[in-house]
Amino acid sequence: MSCSLRAATVTDLDALCHLESICFDGDRFTRRQLAYLLARANAYTLVAYATPGNEVVGYATLLFRRNSRVTRLYSFCVAPQTRGGGVGRALLEALEREARRRDMTRLQLEVRADNRVALGLYRRMGFSVLRWLDDYYVDGCAAWQMSKLLSDSTLEECSTISSDAVGKRARGSC
Ligand SMILES: CC(C)(COP(=O)(O)OP(=O)(O)OC[C@H]1O[C@@H](n2cnc3c(N)ncnc32)[C@H](O)[C@@H]1OP(=O)(O)O)[C@@H](O)C(=O)NCCC(=O)NCCS
Repeated sequence: MSCSLRAATVTDLDALCHLESICFDGDRFTRRQLAYLLARANAYTLVAYATPGNEVVGYATLLFRRNSRVTRLYSFCVAPQTRGGGVGRALLEALEREARRRDMTRLQLEVRADNRVALGLYRRMGFSVLRWLDDYYVDGCAAWQMSKLLSDSTLEECSTISSDAVGKRARGSC
């Protein structure tokens, strides 16, 4: 099996709901939030799909904020049976290219402090720690806020994009 990437559309809603249900423990986007992300939010979502078959096996979303050149990795997951094959890295690299194409200067994210796989991936991809966020998730888990500089622009702005656009997500982001 190999995987390809494409921009998500509203027809991927069922697949994204399914991925949320198998990739996260309890703390998930609702169908309504995902529909908003796909259709209306200032967001860009990529899906990874298997070939042959076209089954959606992962997705990742960037959130943009008006008048800001900082973009936020808002959600990111790969189906358990597909992990470890480079799909996650491919999704992130493609989102980075899209962010650069839109002249974003920084990519920012939050990740659970106990998520060793994601932390390792982000570090190896050049993200560095901005700050520790105590008691960030609903279960009390802390987060690392991380960021990657995408350009040397002096116009670069360092700020956090809030999740207000789609309603507060209990697990923060990612
Ligand atoms: C994080 C996640 C998206 C990574 O997806 P993936 O397709 O497995 O990622 P990749 O195959 O590209 O692997 C990324 C790196 O992690 C390593 N890795 C993957 N699974 C691993 C594991 N179980 N243990 C240790 N390292 C692992 C890979 O070797 C790879 O290393 P490299 O970058 O040096 O090549 C996936 O594990 C996932 O969906 N997790 C649950 C949801 C989640 O935590 N999302 C992120 C929230 S911030």
